[in-house]
Amino acid sequence: MKLRLEEVIDEVIDALPSGQPFDLMSDVAIPVPILVIVHVLGVEPDRRREFRDWSEAVILSLNPFRSSEQAARAEWGSAQLTAYFTDLMAARRASPQEDLISDMVKLQADGAALSDDEVRVNLSALLVGGNLTTTDLIGNGVWLLLTHPEEWRKLTADPAALSSSAVEEILRFEGPVAITSRVTEAPPQVCGREIPAGQLLITSLHGANRDPEVFEDPDRFDITRKRAPHVAFGGGAHICIGAPLARLEAKRVLQRLAERFPALRLTQVDPPKWRTLPFFRGSELTCPLPDPSV
Ligand code: HEM
Repeated sequence: MKLRLEEVIDEVIDALPSGQPFDLMSDVAIPVPILVIVHVLGVEPDRRREFRDWSEAVILSLNPFRSSEQAARAEWGSAQLTAYFTDLMAARRASPQEDLISDMVKLQADGAALSDDEVRVNLSALLVGGNLTTTDLIGNGVWLLLTHPEEWRKLTADPAALSSSAVEEILRFEGPVAITSRVTEAPPQVCGREIPAGQLLITSLHGANRDPEVFEDPDRFDITRKRAPHVAFGGGAHICIGAPLARLEAKRVLQRLAERFPALRLTQVDPPKWRTLPFFRGSELTCPLPDPSV
């Protein structure tokens, strides 16, 4: 689907005004991930406003300090997604299409050990998992590039060649997800200390991505840095399943922005107000969500 997805992204960038300010978050960083994932899953693009609302609601369940109001909102989002996917699975069983939901219900019909709940949970994870994170990758990236003019200059000199390494450096330097967790099986040794089996470990992806033993001068933002193994998408069996998609989206957005607006600059110089949701790094959205009809 790469070519179709790139077209979807290009339409978003082409729709930006020339010679006037635009809001990067509401005009680009929010719509791109949601438009892309609705194409992959095969859900109706004109319901994307609701998908975004449900995603923002479900994500609140990841906040250990959530208020009872936020907990209720998270449950509401989850119930909406469950109801929506239940109906859609029935519709695709009756009339399959060229999309991921049809593939999943076909697998079930062919005897795969996959319950309806498992299909729904996976579909919800795909719909929700890439929204806020990829929005933040684009938002953090453009902010970093425009506050490091030398890096922006390098990118605009050769957008096709450098957009990919720029994305990797943004992921390393200001990754949208700060931590992940693991439960120990055998008692591992960490820094010379034994951790018992069955313990929950919280691992800092941000810490690992600024490790001076792995990255030379780790606090320097450099889009031409030699490829180094950041862990912004986690690792091992549970490495982010959406990583290739997030990379495709961010790379295309940066490349097209740099080609179309080489003189792009910020209209405000205050740093973004960072999200208060723990463990996620991105700009707190003060702008309204985009109008679904646009
Ligand atoms: C810049 C964007 C993204 C970042 C930084 C990110 C980051 C992560 C991280 C750190 C994990 C945990 C991995 C681990 O514990 O080893 C994860 C898991 C996951 N991500 Fe992403 N993600 C992004 C985009 C996406 C997208 C676009 C999708 C879906 C289309 C997605 C779906 C998922 C799912 C389903 C999991 C769970 C995988 C599993 O447990 O096996 N993510 N992501």
